[in-house]
Amino acid sequence: MCGIVGYLGKRKAYPVLINGLKRLEYRGYDSAGVAMINDQGQLNVYKTKGKVSDLEAYASDKDLTGTVGIAHTRWATHGEPNSVNAHPHFSASGNLAIIHNGIIENYAVLKKQLMEKGVEFKSNTDTEVLIQLIEYIQTSKHTDLLTAVRMALHTVIGAYAIAVLDRNNPDQIIAARKSSPLVVGIGEDEFFLGSDASPIIEYTKKVIYLDDKDIAIIRRGEDVKIVDFYNEELKHDVTEVALDLAQIEKGGYPHFMLKEINEQPDCLMDCMSGRVNVDVNNVVLSAVIDHRQRLVDARRFIIVACGTSWHAGLIGKQLIEDICHVPCEVEYASEFRYRNPVINSTDVVIAISQSGETADTLAAVELAKQKGAFIYGICNAIGSSIPRATHTGSYIHVGPEIGVASTKAFTGQVTVLTMLALALGKERGTIDQQKYVNLLHELHDIPEKMKTLLQQCTDNIHEIAKIFTYARNFLYLGRGYNYPVALEGALKLKEISYIHAEGYPAAEMKHGPIALIDEEMPVVVVATKNVLYEKVLSNIQEIKARHARVIALVNEGDETIKRMADAVIELPQTQECLEPLLATIPLQLMAYFIAVCKGKDVDQPRNLAKSVTVE
Ligand code: M6R
Repeated sequence: MCGIVGYLGKRKAYPVLINGLKRLEYRGYDSAGVAMINDQGQLNVYKTKGKVSDLEAYASDKDLTGTVGIAHTRWATHGEPNSVNAHPHFSASGNLAIIHNGIIENYAVLKKQLMEKGVEFKSNTDTEVLIQLIEYIQTSKHTDLLTAVRMALHTVIGAYAIAVLDRNNPDQIIAARKSSPLVVGIGEDEFFLGSDASPIIEYTKKVIYLDDKDIAIIRRGEDVKIVDFYNEELKHDVTEVALDLAQIEKGGYPHFMLKEINEQPDCLMDCMSGRVNVDVNNVVLSAVIDHRQRLVDARRFIIVACGTSWHAGLIGKQLIEDICHVPCEVEYASEFRYRNPVINSTDVVIAISQSGETADTLAAVELAKQKGAFIYGICNAIGSSIPRATHTGSYIHVGPEIGVASTKAFTGQVTVLTMLALALGKERGTIDQQKYVNLLHELHDIPEKMKTLLQQCTDNIHEIAKIFTYARNFLYLGRGYNYPVALEGALKLKEISYIHAEGYPAAEMKHGPIALIDEEMPVVVVATKNVLYEKVLSNIQEIKARHARVIALVNEGDETIKRMADAVIELPQTQECLEPLLATIPLQLMAYFIAVCKGKDVDQPRNLAKSVTVE
């Protein structure tokens, strides 16, 4: 999972490419590189280990002329992150350069075959195999570059978004995709390429989202041409992107993550806008209107997702079972896709993904589709692969999420799942009118409560974070709707602070994790006043009896737990099934402040990337 950018036009390519890489750095940041054909027609490649800023420093004294180029920010899959394995990669003659996001699964076989034919390799990457293969076909079969690319793509197995630059044809870029995203931007006499639209929107809002097995031929002075692997020309609509620059910049916050945590009240209002209508007591989701019968007739829901989206799915399961009275299973997409799941035509599979590009979730969608299920997507990135692969769905509309640790996407997903459960529960006749009205009003009020919570708890949590920064392990406990909150809190902490943290359903503590508890192990307990409150209270007593420090999330005015816990964070009162929308916020902030106290790179934690487009 990497970020790729391309430019061909009338401007200097280098600033466009570097700015684009900075916007895509969330996708990977262990090495970066750029290839440009300069004003004298030479193909220059500059690449280095590290971030885009390291590339900028490295390239600062180099020849940066030229109006055509491609660039890449990498998250290593094959070969360690160093400047040799960084992209772009050259072909043996040095005439061709390639950037690639994805994985060539059969690269080892192809590499062996090419080596037997005398091709020498400089890197350990699968990407170099692809460019060497393209050149080998070009020279051995005397074909043009497009034909060589088409033939090579027939041979490779895997996922890719690629762009190829040819020194002998400086007015052309050839790009292609399969299972990895690629967008072409169309300006006035200029073209852009990006893994998403973020590197493009400051120049043009007109884009074409390439589909799987599309090859785009971008030539100076011509319209973009798109063909399939058999050279059949394809027609694509030009889409207007509704994204502005402010949405993808930090807006005064030190980190994207803090900005995105604080944006959540507004994001949830956007997410509910036109959907939750308190004046007429109604929740409307167009997907539920358009596919009413299919959804009403569903005998089972299966949610597939990964990471934070999977945690949202666990909340969705409870909502769907509570409100719609229909069984709902939640599966890791990565496990689902490699089992032989029993799927019926009466099943509805809900795929949840912020990026809409997660390889495992996409593969789970394809599998479920083949088996006859109806697929409902809950995604954030507009026009991404998962929404395009599903039968219907609802965007969460929380705007671009740049911080690698997911925050606003989680609450957006839970909000959409709540609206889905309400809309469907009403259609199925499984929720009584009073409960429906109460819940939709409560849901509508969540952004306001979230705003107050953020104002009231941020400083307190900053102080708590300072005290607990040096802990080496954390346990997070919650029950019912708050069990996924505990999982999500633990995931946030480990992702960005590198502190080991586990989330558990509180009652499971006695079945093992209690052995770990001592004065060195802080325990975060989500202990809101719901039906399981008394039981969680007993858990806190058990923890205190073992001398561990307790950080408790309680409802405002809970004096009982205040007396027992070492630190308390107060949450506004809401309906039990909506508690995760509030309880998650302090846990996001706690992870953030602990990571900042530890001096960690909050927005780009080590070894992670924003969208996992490889297995
Ligand atoms: O884009 P997706 O929602 O499909 O991504 C799924 C996970 O990779 C993602 O949630 C990951 O766990 C985040 N880093 C969590 O903060």
